[in-house]
Amino acid sequence: MNLVNKTEKTFALTTPLYYVNDVPHIGSAYTTIAADVIARFQRLLGNQVLLITGTDEHGQKIQRSAATLGKPPQDFCDGIVPSFLSLWDLLDIQYDRFSRTTAPRHQAIVNEFFQRVWENGDIYQGEQKGWYCVSCEEFKEERDLLEDKRCPIHTTKQVEWRDEQNYFFRLSKYQTQLEEFYQSHPDFIQPVSRRNEVFNFVAQGLQDFSISRVNLDWGFPVPVDSQHTLYVWFDALLGYVTALLEPDAEPTLANALQKWWPMNLHLIGKDILRFHAVYWPAMLMSASLPLPERVFGHGFLTKDGQKMGKTLGNTLDPIALVENYGSDAVRYYFLKEIEFGKDGDFNEIRFINVLNADLANDLGNLLNRTLNMVKKYCVSQVPSINPSAIPAENPLKAMGLELGDKVQQAYTGLAFNEACHYVLSLVQASNKFIDDQAPWSLYKQGKQEEVEVVLYAVLESVRLAAYLLSPIIPNISSDIYQQLGWGINFNEQKESANLAPFCTHSTWGILSDQQLLGTPKPVFKRIETSK
Ligand code: MSP
Repeated sequence: MNLVNKTEKTFALTTPLYYVNDVPHIGSAYTTIAADVIARFQRLLGNQVLLITGTDEHGQKIQRSAATLGKPPQDFCDGIVPSFLSLWDLLDIQYDRFSRTTAPRHQAIVNEFFQRVWENGDIYQGEQKGWYCVSCEEFKEERDLLEDKRCPIHTTKQVEWRDEQNYFFRLSKYQTQLEEFYQSHPDFIQPVSRRNEVFNFVAQGLQDFSISRVNLDWGFPVPVDSQHTLYVWFDALLGYVTALLEPDAEPTLANALQKWWPMNLHLIGKDILRFHAVYWPAMLMSASLPLPERVFGHGFLTKDGQKMGKTLGNTLDPIALVENYGSDAVRYYFLKEIEFGKDGDFNEIRFINVLNADLANDLGNLLNRTLNMVKKYCVSQVPSINPSAIPAENPLKAMGLELGDKVQQAYTGLAFNEACHYVLSLVQASNKFIDDQAPWSLYKQGKQEEVEVVLYAVLESVRLAAYLLSPIIPNISSDIYQQLGWGINFNEQKESANLAPFCTHSTWGILSDQQLLGTPKPVFKRIETSK
């Protein structure tokens, strides 16, 4: 049965479905910000976009967290979910679907999928023995454990011994098929370092993994044996599929997969790579469904060079960060300062310095001083310049004409830091151009035309910079656009069909004397610090 019928220009992407054992932390915010930036960029390109996020609510870890507070697990989950929703609002995340794995319609999707894999003969009963990390919800190899049988990821938690009858998924059967798939789809796993990690893991030989648990109630019963509860990861990965259902659609795989499948991108952290790049594709192969296009595993965030954790007492609260500095600031810092895919650090002094240098000084001041000069020297009007008459050697025009393509490539490759660097180099060149050309002295010398060319070139460069950064700093970009006379709010792009299409707005030279300039106002206030 062919369930997939993707025809339109669509782009569907996911964040992980976050565990609700606790309120969201900066790691969850990091992936979600990146996903939102990609979604916004794809919308500018004119694609129909579906950004899926949500929560993973079953399994032992959640059951125990609920029990610690003496709450029924569903109540416990219902209590945590709003903290994710409100953080996404604070961070200006424009998600389309919020998928909760405890939703009843998710169970229908899980059952139907299970049935397909079952009928394919890929599920059998066997004995599961091994060390289990409840925090990872994963069996660990003994050789990977730290001293005192602690988990290498949750370094303060000891793994637990399990010996039970479980249902297994026949992963080993897909060894060759997976290897062939990786060969024929070299971009499936990114970045390259993660791809190599997966290749090495698969090359060691794949072992079947258990997909059910006994002595655990909190989860869906195995459809063929209600004595067993489905393993949380089997259910969670399918949360991506359930999220594709239209709100009022009957929960069937055919309805879910019709428009958006195969998914274009799963964004995840490096710790859950195996699930997405090995287990998930094999499960889909078993169910005879097409595989997603790309899985990107980003790095981990540290604070002041140290792993973050409650026991270390050095967690970074994303709410406090946004409340103190604003959502654009937080979004910008993490994407500009860290190469996506590598680990990266948060340090408050560095954070403040970067924001002051890039957003307050380089970008904000440039707009402000230029608008003030336009007020003084050009009666507050965009100079009537035909951009094609500006010589090709004009440094801003030369850079500006190439910038759109370079930044598009950077966003497409999820190289957010590169996108920021390219844009910043135009901004810095604009500051230098003003200093070199000194329009104030050209004005004194009566060289009005030259003054106008300089100011036009700079204003247009600020506009282009604002446009290309709009997926990352939508509020600042909207303010800049509004001061340049565009009634465009980049936070409203989602609702109104592409107000500022990439093909037009990413080119240098669209500012016209028809724009009514607004009052110059700082778009990002310098952060003062006593330190
Ligand atoms: N529930 C699973 C995902 C199921 S997807 C079908 C899960 N949830 S999680 O809440 O534990 O983790 C979600 C994401 O947060 C993971 O991608 C993980 O890599 C990321 N991070 C957790 N701590 C992090 C940092 N310190 N830094 C960056 N990301 C980190 O796993």
